[in-house]
Amino acid sequence: MNIVFVGDEIRELQPMIERLHHKMYCSAHLLSSIDAFKKAFDREQYNIDVIVVEMNFRPDDRQGGLRIIEYVQQRQFEYIPIIVMTVYEDFDNAIRALDMGAFHYIFKGGDTEATVKILAGMIKRAYDLRLERLQADGFALAISNLIDTYDHWLHGHSRRVGRYAQLLALKIQLPANEVQIAKRAGMVHDIAKIHLDCQAFQVKGSLSDILKDTMKEHPVRGYELLKELGNPPALLLAVLEHHLRIDGSGYPLEHPALQAELSTIGQIIGLVDSFDAMTTPRSYRESTLTILAALDQLELDARKGCYARSLVAAWRACLPDIYYTIENDYKRGVLPEIMWRANLSTEGEPLTEPSATR
Ligand SMILES: [Fe+2]
Ligand SMILES: [Fe+2]
Repeated sequence: MNIVFVGDEIRELQPMIERLHHKMYCSAHLLSSIDAFKKAFDREQYNIDVIVVEMNFRPDDRQGGLRIIEYVQQRQFEYIPIIVMTVYEDFDNAIRALDMGAFHYIFKGGDTEATVKILAGMIKRAYDLRLERLQADGFALAISNLIDTYDHWLHGHSRRVGRYAQLLALKIQLPANEVQIAKRAGMVHDIAKIHLDCQAFQVKGSLSDILKDTMKEHPVRGYELLKELGNPPALLLAVLEHHLRIDGSGYPLEHPALQAELSTIGQIIGLVDSFDAMTTPRSYRESTLTILAALDQLELDARKGCYARSLVAAWRACLPDIYYTIENDYKRGVLPEIMWRANLSTEGEPLTEPSATR
């Protein structure tokens, strides 16, 4: 287990870390500033199991811990639990940290040995939760990888839609459990495409009517498949709704689970799914829109009534994180260079006309 401590009270934290190290045989590192943490996190997030942060930073930064939580929430792909250390009188910030998705808080001070014991128990439970979440996410990730391998044109589409959905859900401040559902729904939204004939994925140009009809069944089939696997209703609904728009267009037109209005998570998945389809090459068209052009297109579509304008505005506000995600996929070799170059070089100029998403 790898634990990262973030705090500038080095003389107080160092002995605590050493005792924890002996007690739990874990590796524990101390980072003494928020900037040092951000750099380490960007480089190593996949090697961090639990984060313990101090709320107070000198000279007078009483909410440094909250900024760290926000930073992690917006960038983590796998769940990394955060424990916040506060002083006794700082109850408000402890509650705020929990609201933002922190795993727990601990009041420090007084008996160091007792604090270390409580912290050790808490870290253990946090780590168990991380493993549980990894297992569940691993399942969703395995499925999304399978879907994306099936259709090599997707270039990591399902994983990215999961990541985008997580970012947008965070931006509009959905509760932590709904952010989690949005991420998983994004990862598995096209699960039923594994039912489809490979032909459908490889066809150049427009699809035949038969293939189009088969393709249109994937939200309902996905809903049914995921229901059998025991997924929560909010996730199932979002998968069912991801090709529906708030003006009633899209598909499926009827289904007993559909309600009068689209769910927020369904709208999120629909929006970021279209965004990814616009910004990545597909078998049925040659090139893509740049990120900025795709955002403009979504705004146009919102004005026509397809999306909530506030949701598109929130998505535009995620721009730095969108670039970060795409750059990472390019560096990992998931996305072709052409796409990254196009987005670096063109300021809002569409490379081609957008096509409808599948
Ligand atoms: Fe889809
Ligand atoms: Fe999709």
